[in-house]
Amino acid sequence: MAERLDELISGLTVDVPDHPEPGVLFRDLTPVFADGPAFRRVVEGLAAASASDPRAAALADSRAGERPFDVVVGVEARGFLLAAGVALHTGVGVVPVRKAGKLPRERIAADYALEYGTATLELHADSIRPGQRVLVVDDVLATGGTLAAAVTLVEQLGGVVSAVAVVVELSALAGRQRLAPHTVHALWTT
Ligand code: PRP
Repeated sequence: MAERLDELISGLTVDVPDHPEPGVLFRDLTPVFADGPAFRRVVEGLAAASASDPRAAALADSRAGERPFDVVVGVEARGFLLAAGVALHTGVGVVPVRKAGKLPRERIAADYALEYGTATLELHADSIRPGQRVLVVDDVLATGGTLAAAVTLVEQLGGVVSAVAVVVELSALAGRQRLAPHTVHALWTT
């Protein structure tokens, strides 16, 4: 196994040109998830990066001895895989942010522009308690629209976003700027 996590991820990621639309280079991380040791390192990396976030550290300091976050939010669809892994690894629960029309109960919604097209994300209205510290996880940060919408939903319910973490950041699309003042932790920036 490659020693550096970013090299391990980049080595397993498959670039798919013109997917889902012409001109878009899709970074397919499914081979990373399918590799047991790599997936473990990714999950551990996301949890560790998030725990080192200054915001998370400050929040943890105020609640000595506690974990740096109370719950992990994962964004549909690949974010689900990662959030579940990080939640299990950390010993906290996991909450899904879903595409429109999937959640069955009372929900809140946020529209967002994707690298390709527009969409709506939803969150169950009772899934985050006010003051809960939330780690928000997804696979890819591109334009940042998806994660910005997810953060908006969490904060709308009174959640405190302690960290935002992704496997891959596509730096040319400047998504990180849309997440300010939150810092995005990326295991691989390209
Ligand atoms: C991809 C990716 C992120 C998002 C990043 O999801 O998994 O969630 O795009 O793009 P952005 O930073 O420009 O918002 P996609 O919309 O393809 O959904 P899927 O995971 O359900 O396939």
